[in-house]
Amino acid sequence: MSRRTLSLLLVALVAPFTGSAAQPVSFDREVRPILTANCFHCHGPDAESRKADLRLDREADAKPALKEVLARISHSDPEEIMPPIKSGKKLTATEIATLRAWIEQGAQWEQHWSVKPLQRPATPKLPSPQADWARGPIDLFIRAKQSEIGVAPSAEADNRTLIRRMTFDLTGLPPTPAEIAAFEAAAKTNRDQAIAFVFTVRFQRL
Ligand code: HEC
Repeated sequence: MSRRTLSLLLVALVAPFTGSAAQPVSFDREVRPILTANCFHCHGPDAESRKADLRLDREADAKPALKEVLARISHSDPEEIMPPIKSGKKLTATEIATLRAWIEQGAQWEQHWSVKPLQRPATPKLPSPQADWARGPIDLFIRAKQSEIGVAPSAEADNRTLIRRMTFDLTGLPPTPAEIAAFEAAAKTNRDQAIAFVFTVRFQRL
């Protein structure tokens, strides 16, 4: 086996497990979407289509079945594997690894994010060059995520590009030459105020 083949094989073997093992799996963001897409049709709230009298959408019903869930999602017997082959649904290796990691981490359930009380998250603490990029607390969250996934912010757009983007975004049309000139002039004095003005005017017209 060549070194290249070997390293590709290693990547293929390790890839499904990285991420899920390293950090806690989020029920809301990672697990629920897998269950919703692949299991709830037959093990969800709808009694009409429910199979095997098993509900996986409620913690109390699902908890006792988790060991069996673990066995069924990667079962070698095509008669036993879940979701059933004839349903046309199939879990990917990554999805199986996510479910496994979540169960091994203690299967923490979460309420759906839309019904949870709002909580202000702690603002990320960033080292100096990254933190300096942020103009407000929301930017800190964006910059922290960028660092996490290894991307850097794009260079700031010039005023002409910016008014073009904003106008397209708000109306679907380009700005008029007069609007460009007005924005460029206003942005020289106070760019943030000029941006806010474009939004206010556009929203009034919508
Ligand atoms: C198309 C319908 C369908 C889908 C989708 C489906 N299942 Fe099932 N499931 C069944 C049927 C039918 C049975 C009963 C037959 C059997 O045990 O194989 C069953 C049985 C089970 C059992 C065993 C219950 C027991 O009491 O022994 C588990 C665990 C299970 N499913 C988990 C899952 C999980 C996890 C998913 C999603 C990844 C899933 N199922 C998706 C139809 C479905």
